[in-house]
Amino acid sequence: MIAQPQPEYHLSRPDITDADVAAVVAVLKSPYLALGPKLSAFEEAIASYVGRKCAVAVNSGTSGLHLAVRALGLADGDEVLTSPFSFVASANCALFERAVPRFVDIDPDTLNLDASKLEKAVTDKTRAIIPVDIFGLPCDMDAVNDVARKHGLAVIEDACEAIGATYKGKKAGSFGEVAVFAFYPNKQMTTGEGGVLVTRYRNRPQRALDEKPGALRLGRMA
Ligand SMILES: Cc1ncc(COP(=O)(O)O)c(C=O)c1O
Repeated sequence: MIAQPQPEYHLSRPDITDADVAAVVAVLKSPYLALGPKLSAFEEAIASYVGRKCAVAVNSGTSGLHLAVRALGLADGDEVLTSPFSFVASANCALFERAVPRFVDIDPDTLNLDASKLEKAVTDKTRAIIPVDIFGLPCDMDAVNDVARKHGLAVIEDACEAIGATYKGKKAGSFGEVAVFAFYPNKQMTTGEGGVLVTRYRNRPQRALDEKPGALRLGRMA
């Protein structure tokens, strides 16, 4: 039997313009291939777009989530409530720091974590909630934040799939202590690989992230 040529279906086909190519070439020809002025400009633009005090660019959404977990000081045995219907990083980011992801079922209509089931899942070991804005649809963040406030939990918004989305007029990524966007080519915007972590704290947390787990814990860097 002669094999028929199979059609190719691309997961995504980013729209890269001549201006984008020229911007990349300008950086390649500059003295700064890393940590240059374009990076700070990018971080500032994202922070201002989302309405956050600080943005830190990272190499992937997974790294951003991992840094968020680390910066909040989540560690051995701490429980994190998250969605079972997501990319694996939403749960793995807890495991990277030996914290324990606990899954709360999703709402069959939105495919997002069902916030009405969150409170029942809280135990005396629960430290954080990682709501996921799946396929660009933000979670019910009012309900998530209510449970978080009531039980003193941190919120890490996994907005990796949701830059540009809004919830009740506020941008996805503007909720919780920390939120993370991802820029893999199947996302709304892409940097090839990449991500950015945004926080409601003014201080740039890189050093803290590298050297002081827990430095972003509520209030410590406000
Ligand atoms: C919901 C969600 N969380 C986290 C990630 C991780 O992002 P990255 O692939 O850049 O590590 C993704 C990306 O696929 C995602 O869709």
